[in-house]
Amino acid sequence: MKVSLKKALPVQLVVGTQWGDEGKGKVVDLLAEDVDIVARYQGGPNAGHTVKIENETFIFHHIPTGVLRPNIQCIIGNGLVIDPISMLDEIRTLEKRGIDVVSRLFISPWAHLILPYHSKIEKLYEELKKGKKIGTTGRGIGPAYADKMSRIGIRVGDLLDRNSLREKISETVGIKNQILQKVFGVDGFDPAEIEDILIRFLEKIKNCITDTTLMLNSSIREGKNILLEGAQGTLLDIDFGTYPFVTSSNTTCGGVCTGLGISLRRVDRIIGILKAYTTRVGNGPFPTEVSDSIGTRIRELGGEYGATTGRPRRCGWFDGVIAKYAVMINDIDVLVITKLDVLDSLDQIKICTKYRHKGVELDSFTPDSLILREVEPVYETFPGWGKKISDIRTYSELPDAARIYLKRIEQIAGVPIGVVSVGSHRDEIIWVE
Ligand code: GDP
Ligand code: IMO
Ligand code: MG
Repeated sequence: MKVSLKKALPVQLVVGTQWGDEGKGKVVDLLAEDVDIVARYQGGPNAGHTVKIENETFIFHHIPTGVLRPNIQCIIGNGLVIDPISMLDEIRTLEKRGIDVVSRLFISPWAHLILPYHSKIEKLYEELKKGKKIGTTGRGIGPAYADKMSRIGIRVGDLLDRNSLREKISETVGIKNQILQKVFGVDGFDPAEIEDILIRFLEKIKNCITDTTLMLNSSIREGKNILLEGAQGTLLDIDFGTYPFVTSSNTTCGGVCTGLGISLRRVDRIIGILKAYTTRVGNGPFPTEVSDSIGTRIRELGGEYGATTGRPRRCGWFDGVIAKYAVMINDIDVLVITKLDVLDSLDQIKICTKYRHKGVELDSFTPDSLILREVEPVYETFPGWGKKISDIRTYSELPDAARIYLKRIEQIAGVPIGVVSVGSHRDEIIWVE
């Protein structure tokens, strides 16, 4: 039975289908109207989720976007990496804007912390890569997740015991300082400085530390409505993305289980967020990138500049091969198409339906960066609609050309479109019944 996206199901996941920045923030804010809990399961301050309400713009890095709705509880799961300095700043900025955060924020004791040596090490690694830089957000994400896997990370729960925390800091900073000083020949860190950062953070969030796994599982049993907010996108997934030009977490649906401690059986609906064209920030293959004036025009029309770093985003045509891949990897039930309005003034719009590689047609995606660098996109061209659509609120009122474009996307992806977003503001949407 087809159920409209307008009616929330108990546990819904919002996942990015491209290289991030698909408009997840706007969609989470929209769907959060009917939910009790919004939970993040991976990533950290590399994320930048934007919500525009009237004249105000909010950009979220750690805090779940649901915090804008007054009664929602916000969970930061064990799968995240948290930068205490930047998160404090984020909380204080929201508080100054009249949004109460800490009384509704629940942080897993098993979430890992990003400390100043992580971004320093990341920068040194990137410098060594010369022509093969990933172009990270510089937030220390990779090194913090590496410490988690190397089992030398400091977790939120470690802050609760001052003596053992001091021991942990001394051990970890000792290792980092050896690397910084002996391998890179640069200054190390003073353990007291790290302790000071952590204690200041603890003072603010002490009451937020909660067994969020227990909380979520009992909330699910009680029938609460829960929205899971993915960060980044399918092609930035550490396993299924365009490795090594990816982030360091599982951004796809699997990240929900490991990043929150809920079973895959508990997710009732998977919502894929798909921009009406493609963007990427940072380096790595991008088959449908448009490097000429059309690419620049899309960037300007779409305001395609990073919400976290301000970097210009690379822009290109819609890639149906990617859409099909994201639907498969996440088993997406329904799509939200965002930023359709950005294409309003283009005479012609292209959709890539397959790739050609060394004369052979590929109609399924491979995340292999070496192959992707060499593929040529095969396009279908559609006429533009040449009309402003941001005031339209019903699907049938969309210009014919826009509906034909959406239909083709739906056909390629193989799943229905539930919402079309036609502007950056909360109300600029079309529910597709
Ligand atoms: P996220 O990381 O997936 O949450 O996306 P970002 O917030 O980084 O980037 C999306 C940008 O597009 C933000 O500036 C949003 O305000 C904006 N946006 C979202 N939906 C729409 C839309 O339908 N039309 C337009 N023009 N802008 C949108
Ligand atoms: P949201 O949640 C777009 C990109 C970086 C870089 C790569 C690795 O707003 O969609 P990292 O700092 O994570 O080690 O960088 O991933 N990246 C994003 N691109 N949106 C994001 O988040 C991103 N988070 C990371 O630009 O290419
Ligand atoms: Mg973003």
